[in-house]
Amino acid sequence: MTSPKPNSRITRMAVSALLLAVLPALGTTAPAGNFPTIGPLPEKEAPNPNLVKMGQRLFFDVRVSGDGAISCATCHDPRQGFTRQTDKEGQPMALSDAYPGTRHFRNAPTLLNVAYKEDFADTGWGWDGHMGANLNDVVRDQITETMMMNTDMRMMHERMKQDPVYVQMCQENFNGECSSGRGRKALDAFMRTLTSSNTPFDTGMLSGEAQLGRILFEGKAGCIACHNGPYFSDGRPHNTGVPENLEIFRDPLRHIAYRAVITNHGVPKADIWRRDVGYFLVSKDYKDVGSFITPTLRETVYTAPYMHNGVLQTLEEVVEFYAAGGGHDDPLATELAPLDLNGSEQAQLVAFLRSLSSPTAPTAEKVSIPLEYEIIDNWLEVPN
Ligand code: HEC
Ligand code: HEC
Repeated sequence: MTSPKPNSRITRMAVSALLLAVLPALGTTAPAGNFPTIGPLPEKEAPNPNLVKMGQRLFFDVRVSGDGAISCATCHDPRQGFTRQTDKEGQPMALSDAYPGTRHFRNAPTLLNVAYKEDFADTGWGWDGHMGANLNDVVRDQITETMMMNTDMRMMHERMKQDPVYVQMCQENFNGECSSGRGRKALDAFMRTLTSSNTPFDTGMLSGEAQLGRILFEGKAGCIACHNGPYFSDGRPHNTGVPENLEIFRDPLRHIAYRAVITNHGVPKADIWRRDVGYFLVSKDYKDVGSFITPTLRETVYTAPYMHNGVLQTLEEVVEFYAAGGGHDDPLATELAPLDLNGSEQAQLVAFLRSLSSPTAPTAEKVSIPLEYEIIDNWLEVPN
């Protein structure tokens, strides 16, 4: 669990005060303030390709989970934008599945460009910032969390030690034996390769419609106030009034998972909240109830459905949501005001959002692991 740095908190308060003052006028004017400019992602040092190979194998390896049923790729599927968008019947999956026997209460976020999150995420990772302080920490949490992969580091160490392929990979990469820490480093390295730079926005090939959308994005639609910088995120929590996904309270497994997480994080009155408290879970400051960390807008063509709980299905719906001033049920959602956007302007914004995605879905080649350890796609139905 992380807590915000005191100075960034002051900045956040100042920024929200500023936004409160200027946003009601946004229907007609550009957002006030100097926001980090949007642009191509800066180059980062490429991770060691040999270490990446080891990480890629672990990413697809179900032995990383306690009972050997799921891998990282189960929920962050390279064929689905490194999220999980559809269930086995092909229906959209607003909320992620979880370790066999439980279900999650948040949408599985994409891992595309996730390496850039560390440059902005002083608030922490995950939709509400409750996961770790850096990518390596998040990997550890994903491996050990009971509702994620539910294993422990000794088990991971042991399983790697028993596989001659990992033994050799550890020799090559670390000149020594496998350890869980080395496995985490490899997974971290693999995720650092999941970047994309071939988008029409990055290559300067914006259509006329998308160019008009960009003007709106940086101007009267005010998106730049939160989706800024090359990662299109300020890394800060905001409450946009996204409606609750009541499935979290209807489905006993999701409900239990949600209660467990907020109880473990010391949320006051954890047994009575009937909404996702969001960043409040981290800050324990009531004004943060219902705030979520601004997500990146890169590659969103491939990561539907949208928002922390997957309640919006298409980018058109998202833009409609903003045009209406976000959600209105939540008195704490005061940062957005209705936008004066006609139908073609909304289409222009959507065209701009689309221009932030690669022409073809970025993916990663599946690594073949011996058949007995193949991913079981219908894992929830696997008899015990
Ligand atoms: C059972 C499904 C599931 C599995 C398995 C899983 N994840 Fe996740 N992952 C999620 C969900 C859901 C979240 C968001 C949780 C939240 O915000 O509360 C997440 C969040 C993350 C994040 C943070 C992303 C961000 O933008 O802040 C990273 C990084 C990540 N997972 C990597 C991994 C890795 C690496 C593995 C394998 C070791 C893995 N995950 C396994 C479902 C899963
Ligand atoms: C006040 C800050 C703020 C402003 C202004 C803002 N957003 Fe967002 N945006 C967010 C936050 C926070 C989320 C996540 C909300 C959640 O999950 O509950 C989000 C989510 C999104 C998503 C979904 C991404 C995903 O992966 O699920 C899209 C698309 C998006 N915004 C586009 C826009 C557009 C287009 C505009 C301008 C019309 C805009 N945003 C204005 C903060 C903002």
